Amino acid sequence: PRPILLTRHGESRDNVRGRIGGDTALSDAGEIYAKKLYTFVEKRLKSERAASIWTSTLQRTILTASHIPGFPKIQWRALDEINAGVCDGMTYEEIKKNMPEEYEARKKDKLRYRYPRGESYLDVIQRLEPVIIELERQRAPVVVISHQAVLRALYAYFADRPLKEIPHIEIPLHTIIEIQMGVAGVQEKRYKLMD
Ligand code: F6P
Repeated sequence: PRPILLTRHGESRDNVRGRIGGDTALSDAGEIYAKKLYTFVEKRLKSERAASIWTSTLQRTILTASHIPGFPKIQWRALDEINAGVCDGMTYEEIKKNMPEEYEARKKDKLRYRYPRGESYLDVIQRLEPVIIELERQRAPVVVISHQAVLRALYAYFADRPLKEIPHIEIPLHTIIEIQMGVAGVQEKRYKLMD
């Protein structure tokens, strides 16, 4: 059975400042993760010639993949992080203070809540459909380097988790989730490469 490796990008400068969305580069810790990921992928997939690396179009995922040579890299807009619309670039604290109704509405129904001029989790789940179809068709391993909300949705699909849990699934930074699809169903392993 071929593995699918899911990981968030290395920590970004916006992650450090607690800002959502954006398109910043990696922090120092994020850079270290990108190198560790390279070592891991090299070892794990060295005999897998047809493996490929899929990223979003945002630089934090592209930079995270940049140290991994030898595999084709594909950018998918559908793997971009949830679009926070008017809240893009804000901290959760700022949203709570400046847009309390939005903050409350999201807290009440995180799955369906759509950021003004942005997206909801349901929107993200829908736009991931072509990615899932393509992932299912692949015979070779795929490394997916994406973002928290997107990976929650992808993971839930493979791990068969209920819709309502999706916005709350834990997808920590600097951790690889390996999914194996075999005859016995789906198996999962997590590799935490750094604290
Ligand atoms: O904070 C990192 C991040 O990827 C943001 O860019 C994004 O808005 C958020 O996580 C998604 O997580 P949540 O749905 O829990 O706010």
